[in-house]
Amino acid sequence: MTLEISLTRDPAHLRHGSNVGQSLTRTDGILKVTGKARYAADNHPPGMLYAVIATSCIARGRVTSLDVAAAKRHPGVVDVMTPSHKPELAEDPDAKGNPFAFRMELLQSDEVRYANQAIAVVIAETLEAATEGAALLSPRYQVEIARVGLDAGEAYAPPVVGIGNPAEVVVGDVEAGLAAATKLTDATYETPAQYHNAMEPHAIVAVWDGDRLFIDTPSQGMAFAQMRVAGLFGIPPGNIHVNSPFLGGGFGSKGLISGPQVLGIMAAKLVARPVKLVLRRSQMYGPVGHRPPTRQRLRIGTDDAGMLTAIDHHARIVTSSFDDFYEPAADASHTLYAAPAIHTAHEAVRVDTGTPLFMRAPGEATGSIALESAIDEAAFACGLDPLEFRLKNYAEVEPTTGKPFSSKALRQCYAKAAERFGWARRPLRPKQMRDENGFLVGWGVGTATFPAIMFQGNARAVIRADGKGVMETGAHDMGQGAWTALAQISADSLGLDLDQLTFRSGSSDLPDAGIAGGSGHTATVGAAIHNAGAAVIAKLAELATSDERSPLFGAGNAGVIARGGRLYRRDDEARSEGYAEILARAGLAEVDGTGSGAADPAAQSQYAMHAHGAVFAEVKVDPELGQIRATRMVGAFAAGRIINPLLVQSQLYGGMIWGLSFALHEEAVMDHRSGRILNANLAEYHVPVNADVPPMDVITVDEHDPHVNALGIKGVGEIGITGSAGAVANAVWHATGIRVRRFPIRIEDVV
Ligand code: MOS
Repeated sequence: MTLEISLTRDPAHLRHGSNVGQSLTRTDGILKVTGKARYAADNHPPGMLYAVIATSCIARGRVTSLDVAAAKRHPGVVDVMTPSHKPELAEDPDAKGNPFAFRMELLQSDEVRYANQAIAVVIAETLEAATEGAALLSPRYQVEIARVGLDAGEAYAPPVVGIGNPAEVVVGDVEAGLAAATKLTDATYETPAQYHNAMEPHAIVAVWDGDRLFIDTPSQGMAFAQMRVAGLFGIPPGNIHVNSPFLGGGFGSKGLISGPQVLGIMAAKLVARPVKLVLRRSQMYGPVGHRPPTRQRLRIGTDDAGMLTAIDHHARIVTSSFDDFYEPAADASHTLYAAPAIHTAHEAVRVDTGTPLFMRAPGEATGSIALESAIDEAAFACGLDPLEFRLKNYAEVEPTTGKPFSSKALRQCYAKAAERFGWARRPLRPKQMRDENGFLVGWGVGTATFPAIMFQGNARAVIRADGKGVMETGAHDMGQGAWTALAQISADSLGLDLDQLTFRSGSSDLPDAGIAGGSGHTATVGAAIHNAGAAVIAKLAELATSDERSPLFGAGNAGVIARGGRLYRRDDEARSEGYAEILARAGLAEVDGTGSGAADPAAQSQYAMHAHGAVFAEVKVDPELGQIRATRMVGAFAAGRIINPLLVQSQLYGGMIWGLSFALHEEAVMDHRSGRILNANLAEYHVPVNADVPPMDVITVDEHDPHVNALGIKGVGEIGITGSAGAVANAVWHATGIRVRRFPIRIEDVV
């Protein structure tokens, strides 16, 4: 069930011991485009039934009746799971076991908490029968008025979510700083609800065998999923096998197992047969998380020299009526600009919505577009070029902690991207540029930042009798290329060429690789791999250097180099021995070793660790129709060591496109009367298509960081969206002279 990947590369590019840094294409990419990749929903175990969720069309109230008999009469329907007919759970799905456990709707009652919530599950011999059965349930409701929007109720100070910061952070005297300012920018920005919309919907194929459970399901965190399911069903985590070789995107929505996935497991238990459950696109707007709407007020004080005197960033956020996830948008102001006083605060409002959840750069993305817009406004108030203003207020140490940065090549990012873009020719005032068609042209800049986060992960390495190697780790490839990048690190760690390595991943039977989130997967699992490889090489070196029959005898552990499947004496590279010979002489079938990766608390307490970047955007606006087009984007990013430049470039393209989407396209619209989402489909939930995406340029700036981790990796998954959204928004202002503070910016805002 585990997916094995053996990578080979063009022999022309083969260089011993330097797989890291090579621009390899994704090997799993070939499997995907040729249809050989088996996604969760592609599995069809014998005897499998289909489950379809019936969802609520009200946002608040109770289900008073369901016509279960009508559904059951439909040919092919096997059973209907309802609050009164379902397997018993060992744990209350509303219990809060740990900061990452969010409440789930598992038919625990007739209560409806949001539109699109599951109210029943129909299980049938065919997908069509299950779908029809769900339609025949004809639910009746007792409806209550839905609470919708940022002003739906009283705000409260939310508790810390996961590993996040407290809701309020104060450094220095912000009111005094604002009072001393000669210019005050006071602006309020609104960002909309956004939904992850991974191309692959949440899906599960669940098979019970006694108290053992096998699930095929896309996951960004298989061990987390095992723990949660183990608790809910009262079985040991080791009884649960999660298979997740491929994901068609996750963006945070697959970080934690969701309610609908658990409903699939419950359905399989109820009917004692394998069950497949796949969400429809519209059903992904509710139970699998989203980015909540925010309203952010920024007050920025500056003095006569254009220096910041204070930043006050306050964010009001939507959360659900029954749980406490909040989007830490104001945290964006912690890191970037050197204000002597900074205050960030969050308040949450309970709304009849599915609980929001981590969505690509949660907090950083929403906070970035507001902060970067406000900084642009403050720069203009001071009569300064927005890049010059950012450089004047460049943070040499992290403003909220006073810690030095472990590395920070943001100045180089600004310089390189500005040069490539041609920023020096930008007029200070807005509405000064037109193209040959009379369209208004504007240029904007935004600063990108994302913390260098590590979780906890493990790996196991083996060198076999034939001298070839295996690296095993339960890592997750959402499409970002984790397999390829991690295989590159694996090969280097074992001193092998890529075609001598088998990389095994994507299954919970392998060592727990933690979570693919927080842009920390490559750093975390890379470190684990690095350490596992080193452990094996140390064993081989010990075998060789302590055996007088080896050409390496007496070299000592520190005195060998591993590459191309051989150990070499460091002081005399003419003397070497292959792994296969070392094992044969020792009479061993293999040597293995394990390693783990995690953040170093000592380094973390000493240094602030962040990736940085600078994004420049050009937009053109039709002065009559208001149509806005992004026409150029240039981003330069410094994110520590780059494992695979091609994959990193693609990640950054993706992030920058999402930034563009944030500024100009994406918005989920909730009907204020019903609490239902009006555009829960990919036709009306706008994301950029190819025609919307301008020519883009990504520059990666070299950055050597000796503190973040042994490999110097900071992560590139989420930083691309930050900075980019603000750059596009600022370009729209520069083109039109109209400052739009509600996103996405629409045609009617600029005519
Ligand atoms: Mo993410 S939102 O860390 O997948």
